[in-house]
Formats: sequence, structure tokens, C-alpha cells
Amino acid sequence: MKHPIISFRRKLMSFMIIAIAFPTLTSGYLMIDHAEKALLKEKENKLYALTRQLDHLLPYSFNHYLGPQQNKMSREEKINRLNLILGPRTDLIAKENPGIGVGYYSKELNAIITYGPSQELKDKIGLSIDHTHPGNQVLQHGTPLVFTGKQVRGNIMNAMTPLIRDGNVIGYVWANELTRDVADQMQKMEHNIWLILIAGMLIGILIALKITNTLGRSIEKMEEQIRRTDRLKALGELAAGMAHEIRNPLTSIKAFSQIAEESFPAEDPNREYMGIIVKEVERINRLIEQLLLFGRPSIEKEELVNLPDLIRQSLFLIDYELKKKELNLTQEFEVVQMRADYNLIQQIIVNLLLNAIHAVNQGGTLEIKTMVNPTTVAMSFFNSGSSIAENQKEKIFNPFFTSKDHGIGLGLSVTQNIVHLYKGKIFFENVNHGVKFQVEFPREEIVYGKDSCSG
Ligand SMILES: Nc1ncnc2c1ncn2[C@@H]1O[C@H](COP(=O)(O)OP(=O)(O)OP(=O)(O)O)[C@@H](O)[C@H]1O
Ligand SMILES: [Mg+2]
Repeated sequence: MKHPIISFRRKLMSFMIIAIAFPTLTSGYLMIDHAEKALLKEKENKLYALTRQLDHLLPYSFNHYLGPQQNKMSREEKINRLNLILGPRTDLIAKENPGIGVGYYSKELNAIITYGPSQELKDKIGLSIDHTHPGNQVLQHGTPLVFTGKQVRGNIMNAMTPLIRDGNVIGYVWANELTRDVADQMQKMEHNIWLILIAGMLIGILIALKITNTLGRSIEKMEEQIRRTDRLKALGELAAGMAHEIRNPLTSIKAFSQIAEESFPAEDPNREYMGIIVKEVERINRLIEQLLLFGRPSIEKEELVNLPDLIRQSLFLIDYELKKKELNLTQEFEVVQMRADYNLIQQIIVNLLLNAIHAVNQGGTLEIKTMVNPTTVAMSFFNSGSSIAENQKEKIFNPFFTSKDHGIGLGLSVTQNIVHLYKGKIFFENVNHGVKFQVEFPREEIVYGKDSCSG
């Protein structure tokens, strides 16, 4: 019975996990892709900005700094002279941006003029770029370019901006970062994103599983309840049908048995036997009535029923048992009147009273109360005696559950049916060496009053 529900719960859980994990992972992947692109773009922009600074730090052409003697200077001398002037400027920028390499390239000298930080990179001064170097494109077209790959410094992301003076490209400036550093930063970022996503996903899954589990459980309970209700309904229909069919012949049997009983002389043992038949028929009749009530308790006629009055009358019916058990009886009544079918409410009271009488110990206590609460009106029946065993608590409202030799086991289930008919609740608890049953009806269903009537 439980199996399909468990597998349903499992299915629901697997679905939840997929429903959470798939979008998280996909969006994680997209997010990282996006973040990586953004990081690269940001780096590009930063490197470009540095090249623009370098451009500004050289207000004139290279030749301007070489002075009038430049025609007599060798290439080497020119490079050294320019490096002396521009070196501090590139070093300044390199110092402010750790990890970044910056420098000037002269087209005319075909040489690296400066490369900062000079401590690390001064050995590159004077080198020419070979024909595969992307710097050639910058010199040729006079447009900026970012290139990632192996260049003079090694594997770098290199931003290059042409130096244009008087409409001519006289060289270019660059700013670069080692690809290794970029990759490291990227990995750190990726790592953090995954960490957050996975932590979020796990929390999400945990919450979802918790909810699914609770949901599954209540569905389980609901199913069980539906099954029980269905069973009871079917049983009720059957019982009512049978009861109806049995009642008619029973009426005839009872009538004829009574006639037969009368027809025997007083001392004839047959007269006694007929008497027994009549009594037994009456017993069957009571059973039938309970069965009918169990099947479909129906409201025949509604009137104002005064609960304390009804309880007093019902007590009168069981007066004999009360006396025999030498009970200590207390009654505490607030006046509760409800619009209901008199017979049905009496059925509730009699059933609960009978159960209490059966359960109470010799010389014990019986306490009956009616009360008016803020949202309900209630009546309670307490009897001293042994409590209801743990393993029977679930069953006592089941039809035909009885712990008594001559019990039928319909009393409480009939009672419960009637209580439900009036939208009420019935429950019990083991208290003070005894058992208390309580019935509550919602107050709006009921006409109630409070007066001095108690006793
Ligand atoms: N006041 C009570 N104290 C202890 N047990 C109780 C009490 N009321 C009910 N029970 C338990 O609940 C069972 C079911 O009660 P229920 O009234 O439905 O059937 P029954 O009394 O056994 O038979 P009947 O159909 O004749 O009423 C009882 O057999 C008894 O075990
Ligand atoms: Mg009973």
C-alpha cells in the first residue's frame, strides 16, 4: 500500500533536484562565460587607458628629444638617449600598476625604446619586433589593437596604440599583462562563482527536499484517510441496506412471538422460551438501529434540544447500572441548546454514557459537563477506571472494534458519524486514572445560553 506513495515521493524529489540543479548549473556556466568576457573586456579597457597615458606622456615626436645633433648619432646612441628621457615615465606607470608591462616603440629606429618596469625588462631595450609581431599592423594601419599570445615578453595580453604625430605613425605604445596572471584571476573568479552557486543550489535542494518530504507525508496521510472514508462509506451502504431488509421480517417475528408467548399458559416452559425469543429479537432490533444509524444517520426532525435536559433523561435510562456500580456522579451543566435531531443527539449521549458505565470501576466516579466556550459548545464524559491502551487508541472509532465480550463495536463509530453530521468533533484522552470523552460543536451551528441551571 505504501509503496506507490514512496516512489511518488522519490519521483517528486528527483524532479525537484533536477528542477533546481539544471537551471543553476546552466546559468552558472553562462554566468562564468559572461563574467570571463567582461573581465577580459575590462582588462582590455584598462590596458588601452594606460597606452593613452603613455601617448600623453610624449607630447612631441621622438626626434624632438634627440636635438640638432641627431644626424651624427648612431642608432644605439639615439635609443639610449630616448630611453634616458622616457624610461622614468614608463617606470612610473609600471610602478603604479603592478604586473603590467608598458613601453614605447620607435618605427624609425625599429626598436623598443623603453620597457617598464625596467628592473625586470631592461634587456629588451633596442630589440626589434619581427615581421610576425602584431605591432607591425599597428604601425602600418595606425589603429589600436589588442593581441593575446606569445610576444617579446612571453605569453601576454598586449594592448597597442599607435603614436601619431603630424599625421604620421612614428611608433606605438603598449601596455600588457601576463596571460598567466589573467588566467589566475579568471580562475579565482570562476572558483568563487561556482562556490556561491553550488552552496546556493545545495541549500535550495535541501529546502526543496524538506518541503517535498513533508508534502509527500501529508499526501500519504490524506490518501490513507480517503481510503478509510471510502471503506466506511461502502460498509455503511451495505450495513444500511442489510439492516433495512432485516427489520421488516424481524417486526413480524417479534409480533408473532409475542402472540405465541401469550398463548402458552404461565407455567409452560415454552412461554419462557418465547420470552427469550422476544428479548433476543429486541436485541437484534437494537443492533439494526445502530447499523442504520451507522450507515446513514439522517436528520428526521430538527428542534431545539436542551443538552443538560437530554443528559438527565438519558441518565434516567441507565439508573439501574448507576446504582449497581455505586457510582459517585457529578454533573456540571451550563445550558446549551442546539437545533438538532433529538434522537440523534440522544444517541450520542447514550452511547458515551453506556461506554462510561461499562468502563467505570465499582464505586468509581462519573463526571458529566456541558460548557460554552468562545467558539464551541461542548459536553464531556469522564469516568474513572482503566485507560485506553496505546494500541487501541487508533481503533476505537472503527466500526465493529470492541474489547467487550458482548459488544458490537458500533457505539463510537455511530456517535462519530452523528457528531460529524453536525460539523462537530469528538475526541478522548486518558486522564486522572480514567477516560474523558469530549464532544464539541461549532457555536454558530448552535443556539446556546448560560443560566443558573446546574446540578
Ligand atoms: N470510557 C471508555 N473507557 C475505556 N474504554 C472505552 C471507553 N469507551 C470506549 N472504549 C473502548 O472503545 C471500544 C469501542 O467502543 P464502542 O462504543 O464503539 O463499542 P462497544 O462499546 O465495544 O460496543 P457497542 O457497539 O455495544 O457500543 C470499547 O470496546 C472499549 O474498548
Ligand atoms: Mg459502546
